[in-house]
Amino acid sequence: MSVIEAHGICKSYAGADGEVNAVREVDFSVEAGDFVALHGPSGCGKSTLLMITGALLSPDAGCLRVSGEDPYAMSANDRASFRARHVGFVFQQFHLIPYLNVIDNVCVPALAAARPAAGQRAGELLAHFQLDHRLHHVPSALSVGEQQRVALARALLNEPAVLLADEPTGNLDPENAELILAYMQGFAQDGGAVVMVTHDDRAKAVAGRQLALREGRLV
Ligand SMILES: Nc1ncnc2c1ncn2[C@@H]1O[C@H](COP(=O)(O)OP(=O)(O)O)[C@@H](O)[C@H]1O
Ligand SMILES: [Mg+2]
Repeated sequence: MSVIEAHGICKSYAGADGEVNAVREVDFSVEAGDFVALHGPSGCGKSTLLMITGALLSPDAGCLRVSGEDPYAMSANDRASFRARHVGFVFQQFHLIPYLNVIDNVCVPALAAARPAAGQRAGELLAHFQLDHRLHHVPSALSVGEQQRVALARALLNEPAVLLADEPTGNLDPENAELILAYMQGFAQDGGAVVMVTHDDRAKAVAGRQLALREGRLV
């Protein structure tokens, strides 16, 4: 069984000039241990497809299974809990909570998944990501590279099967980008499934497989 199985995924938005067909009839699957780069020109539907894959945005048509389950067949509450347990998300802009310190930011997903010993797991992840000297800082006191490592630790807190990243290196200098890519690669090598949206050639090179999207279709 693939960790992610997507069949016939379609999504349209109501735009000012009529309907925008952001994702059209997309099929793909991702296995445990895969590191997939999703790329294509701006506006081709990458973020829409990633959000659908991450149980954040319901498709208009098609079927998605993550770890064998269809998150869109669940109630909204069950889907939120499923997402917290099975999917980690990393964004270009980090999306850390500005008034929480590092350790508390990393523990946020434990609230939705009722994870015991979250603080201990957070501390271990932060040590692994070379952040153990930053536990009680707020995000604004960190470098952008450190902020993205905190975001990655948060995404991995609940030991998800799937890690989704939308241009995670877009705001990072080459050194910090390399570090994030290496940690994401480590997650895949440990049996995780990674889908990363990226424009960055170095990031594409780290991935084991490429998916190219054009005007909402895989090519
Ligand atoms: N919430 C929305 N409402 C209307 N149109 C949207 C919305 N989100 C995205 N779009 C449109 O859908 C298309 C795909 O967007 P997106 O998935 O963000 O592409 P990408 O991430 O590849 O740049 C674009 O034409 C974009 O303008
Ligand atoms: Mg995008």
